Amino acid sequence: MADVKIAPSVLASDFGKLAEEIQAVDQAGCDWIHLDVMDGHFVPNLTFGPPIIQAVRGASNKTFDAHLMVSNPDQLLELYQKAGTDIITVHAEVCEHLDRTLSRIRELGCRAGVSLNPHTSEDCLRYVLDRVDLILVMSVNPGFGGQSFIPTVVDKITRIRDMLGGRDVDIEVDGGITAETAPLVVSAGATALVAGSAVFKGGSVESYRRNIEAIRDSVKGL
Ligand code: DX5
Ligand code: ZN
Repeated sequence: MADVKIAPSVLASDFGKLAEEIQAVDQAGCDWIHLDVMDGHFVPNLTFGPPIIQAVRGASNKTFDAHLMVSNPDQLLELYQKAGTDIITVHAEVCEHLDRTLSRIRELGCRAGVSLNPHTSEDCLRYVLDRVDLILVMSVNPGFGGQSFIPTVVDKITRIRDMLGGRDVDIEVDGGITAETAPLVVSAGATALVAGSAVFKGGSVESYRRNIEAIRDSVKGL
């Protein structure tokens, strides 16, 4: 399998120096920058949107991976693209016209992702498999960092990988990822790992590098 992508979630970073934190995980060797957008409605927490993403875009050339935990993603898709987002992931639970939303994201020139809450069945993916570039499997209930990994999602990842039948689609897993849980999800078919609190520990490029390497080492050769 190709190398697993590590996507530090800036939710666990120091928002007071967000650009520096993004620069630091970039230098520490991450693959993607995971941006948790929350609207205080779909999830009980509120973070940032396109203007902040645009303000920090210059801090790194790495893939900007936006996870939209919002009730009305369709309204702002173009703003995320203009802000410099590379991957736009919406939640299946809020998209009445998921096929249309995913097509629109691709039309904007971005990679299209769809995310499932821990309780959401993978069945809703069946008819959009040719419209997605990434499936984001939530392994905690969205809204906060630092929660415990929910192990039932491992079977879900296996089923999604089977359903994809060889399509070149990333399965990204988000929530409670550490060097202990990463092997479980990668063995099941995950190709990208979001990690917030496990990466942003120590407050320096060197510690971020060690934290990223610990996750990478845990899945080496799987
Ligand atoms: C939760 C977010 C996650 C979160 C992960 O709603 O989507 O990206 O930051 O944080 P950890 O890795 O600490 O569980
Ligand atoms: Zn996320």
